[in-house]
Amino acid sequence: MAEFDVLVVGDANPDLLLRGDVRPRFGQAEQLLTAADLVLGGSAAITAAGCARLGLRTALLAAVGEDVFGELTKAELAKRDVTLLAADGRGAPTGITVVLSEKDDRGMLTLPGTIPALRPADVTDELLAKARHVHVASLYLQPALASGLAGIFRNARQRGLTTSLDTNWDPAGKWESIMEILAFTDVFLPNANELMAITGLDGTDAAAASLVDGGTTVVMKDGARGARAWWPAGACAAPGRAVDVVDTTGAGDSFNAGFLAARLSGRPVAEAIAWAAVAGSLSTRAAGGTAAQAFRADLPG
Ligand SMILES: Nc1ncnc2c1ncn2[C@@H]1O[C@H](COP(=O)(O)OP(=O)(O)OP(=O)(O)O)[C@@H](O)[C@H]1O
Ligand SMILES: [Mg+2]
Repeated sequence: MAEFDVLVVGDANPDLLLRGDVRPRFGQAEQLLTAADLVLGGSAAITAAGCARLGLRTALLAAVGEDVFGELTKAELAKRDVTLLAADGRGAPTGITVVLSEKDDRGMLTLPGTIPALRPADVTDELLAKARHVHVASLYLQPALASGLAGIFRNARQRGLTTSLDTNWDPAGKWESIMEILAFTDVFLPNANELMAITGLDGTDAAAASLVDGGTTVVMKDGARGARAWWPAGACAAPGRAVDVVDTTGAGDSFNAGFLAARLSGRPVAEAIAWAAVAGSLSTRAAGGTAAQAFRADLPG
């Protein structure tokens, strides 16, 4: 029996969340905040924390530096029952994202630091042998990993693992093709804008159809509207849940965790997307990505 249900691969670093009068004005203007929270961030780390909270045996492969942000990251992961498999940070400092957060929008300033340090060779056969599923997050922040990901997913599948990918946004705006990777991806988890940018198509139905032809299940997050899914034999949608939104940081990552927890416990896509949409919504009830993540009892069925 595999040691881990899920191996998450990608970014882990603190997020500094600032709320209040957060649109910076230069000219040495001092602005007052209403809240500041230093919390666990990184799409992969938040997804891993969500998976662990939903009862999956979860490992995270991430590069973390030997510094105060790295120590904080390790401690937060340990508190959340995520086994950190630390990769070589190549001397870089641990990254950080400063999130300037308003109710319905946010701006982010990211120091990548160790985030791009992961290499394809870090995802060893030995590691893959320990897991049932491998999920990769924040692809466009990790060009070195991206260059070998098609091979990693092909290898994972040959070894009997299933695969999933959430690229998240491409800050460079290049949207390099990931078609080679998607050929070995069981579940692709973009938001609506990412889905259209990656395919270069207008309209989410057309964009999803172009990917489903290759056998991938496309699960698209759509903010407060919830989510939709398309797979070779069908399609479905699920609403989010109305909640008092405090901060949407990591909603997409908590969504991913809900989806993976359902699928890895044998549930069909239609049930998995319902779990995912609720898990995404519930995560917005508190500041940061992990403070209000769902427990199994919060989810339908
Ligand atoms: N304002 C909201 N109210 C209720 N639910 C929400 C809200 N925003 C997001 N959600 C829930 O969280 C899920 C994922 O959110 P979203 O669509 O913002 O993903 P994303 O763009 O990938 O986010 P991230 O920035 O974390 O990558 C949605 O499908 C929905 O279920
Ligand atoms: Mg996202």
